[in-house]
Amino acid sequence: MQRLTLTSAVAASLLLLGCNNPNAVDPFHPPESIEPVYSQRGPTAVADPSPSLPMANYPNKGHTLPRAFENQPPLNPHKPNYQISAKRNTCQSCHGINAKADVPVTHSSHRLDNGELDPHYYFCVQCHVGQADNIEPMVGNSFSAPGYPN
Ligand code: HEC
Ligand code: HEC
Repeated sequence: MQRLTLTSAVAASLLLLGCNNPNAVDPFHPPESIEPVYSQRGPTAVADPSPSLPMANYPNKGHTLPRAFENQPPLNPHKPNYQISAKRNTCQSCHGINAKADVPVTHSSHRLDNGELDPHYYFCVQCHVGQADNIEPMVGNSFSAPGYPN
């Protein structure tokens, strides 16, 4: 009786581990039909040095970029690497409520009733992404919405 229980336990854990699934993909040896995804270092071995990336170039600085779908967070036309830490949100030093006339004020939907920044919106670059034109995306994207440019 005890052995039977043990055998079923082993069988159940094998099932859980996916050993019985003939379609399971071995992540260390994926079939050639699956295109590999690399970090920006490309297929360079971890211990090998890789050539440094070019300085990112943001050619749309000073311009509003077209949106690709309704309600899209506006794309960030300038460099996106201003510091955002627990103590300081540098985006707010330009985009805060006292913004200069040529800087768009952080959208009112990002504020609480008392006027303070809603913490849900604190990490600006989660939605407002930079648009360098000389860095290749790691994964392609063919998304398009009717009536909007690609
Ligand atoms: C030194 C001032 C300054 C800082 C800091 C700054 N911005 Fe900007 N931002 C601007 C100006 C000016 C514009 C207007 C377009 C332009 O001049 O590039 C702008 C435009 C934008 C826009 C486009 C808005 C629209 O309606 O199209 C977004 C999004 C944006 N910034 C996000 C950010 C984020 C996120 C940060 C922090 C990582 C940040 N900005 C930091 C000055 C700044
Ligand atoms: C959860 C996603 C999200 C986060 C996080 C976020 N935003 Fe936005 N933001 C949006 C969306 C969506 C819009 C477009 C609102 C609209 O047009 O209805 C927007 C609009 C804006 C605009 C354009 C305002 C205008 O009148 O055109 C600015 C500037 C902006 N955000 C700055 C910021 C800054 C600065 C931060 C960080 C403090 C931030 N956002 C965080 C989603 C986000």
